[in-house]
Amino acid sequence: MPHDFMPGLAGVPAAKSAVSDVDGERGVLVYRGIRVEELCASSSYLETAYLLLFGQLPNRDTFTRWQQDIMHHRRVKYSIVDLMKCLPEQGHPMDALQAAVAALGMFYPGRNVKDVENNYWSAVRLVAKLPTIVATWARLRHGNDAIPPRDDLGFSENFFYMLTETPPHPSWGEIFDDCLILHAEHTMNASTFTGLVTASTLADPYTVVASAIGALKGPLHGGANEEVVLMLKEIGTPERVPGYIDEHLKNKKKLMGFGHRVYKVKDPRAIILQRLCERLFHECGTSPLYDIAVKVEQAAEELLKGKGIYPNVDFYSGVIYDKMAIETDLFTPLFAMARVSGWLAHWLEQLRENKLFRPDQIYAGDHNRPYVPLDQRA
Ligand code: ACO
Repeated sequence: MPHDFMPGLAGVPAAKSAVSDVDGERGVLVYRGIRVEELCASSSYLETAYLLLFGQLPNRDTFTRWQQDIMHHRRVKYSIVDLMKCLPEQGHPMDALQAAVAALGMFYPGRNVKDVENNYWSAVRLVAKLPTIVATWARLRHGNDAIPPRDDLGFSENFFYMLTETPPHPSWGEIFDDCLILHAEHTMNASTFTGLVTASTLADPYTVVASAIGALKGPLHGGANEEVVLMLKEIGTPERVPGYIDEHLKNKKKLMGFGHRVYKVKDPRAIILQRLCERLFHECGTSPLYDIAVKVEQAAEELLKGKGIYPNVDFYSGVIYDKMAIETDLFTPLFAMARVSGWLAHWLEQLRENKLFRPDQIYAGDHNRPYVPLDQRA
């Protein structure tokens, strides 16, 4: 049966899913039917991860067990740390994360993805260990020892502790936790699709997540948050914004952190992140990057209006992380350590009715071409 070719599979459904939904015209994002605004106001990243993975909010006992299971699996084996020590310290943290996650699968070799119990523990390990791997790499590459997790600290506070050896400013844990909620899931995006293609071969979940990390890295996807902060730093002052944006768009360059395949209005996550920026700066002093970012949004709105291009999730998140003194090239790994719960939720969902992904193509090459021997070629 012939089909229209849709570059980038735009608008082509690749799955039936109950994990999350986006209304790109109204700017609404729900996880398992619950709006992200409500989750940020009332939930935590770990509770949201449970909701995504298992379809409902946990009751008190289930949540206690989930939190304990995560806490007990945050450490990574010393061999993983040793493996990371062998990677070049100037390498990108996303590459180190991908390598470590792929290697994790060798330590937990349960390959039977039909085993529900094994799948639960794989999900626990991946959600629990990604922050440890990110923090471990951040320290090792500067010649510092890795810091083991602290059991008395929550998920987000512990991440800061493993990065810096100090628990964070009291509100940072909460703000960071909301950032993780906002990055946890987003329907059929490039990295989720990549993970599902790998999962459709019945590969193990460590390989699924390692594939998804590879797709998230690119600047058109998760890598944009890093690019945004580099751009804001390059602009330098709010006064230079109009000239920079004018020039940028005149040269047909894309503004990083703007535009989305689905949203035709401002991304609801960008709206919440902007509020989080304001809360952070109110409590901890402003950031010059924020003033520049707001100016960029104003200037871009003028020039791009009519095209439905507004800030996306990557625009304000980097400004928050920068204020929290997190190094710029760690921003995309932070995205990955939140999104792992969404990737795994889709993985578990797909396993129930798995079908190998094997799309078609429209062949645009030659047929019946003769083989020309080497000495007769021009
Ligand atoms: N800046 C300027 N113009 C833009 C931008 C942008 N950020 N995004 C889209 N446009 C313009 C394009 O130039 C094009 O204009 P034209 O029709 O005049 O040629 C039109 O809008 C459509 O652009 P496409 O790239 O075809 O749209 P697509 O749906 O493929 O774009 C994408 C989605 C890839 C996210 C794009 O908006 C982009 O490259 N943004 C910058 C990178 C970024 O922020 N990525 C993060 C996305 S969110 C995430 O993945 C977590």
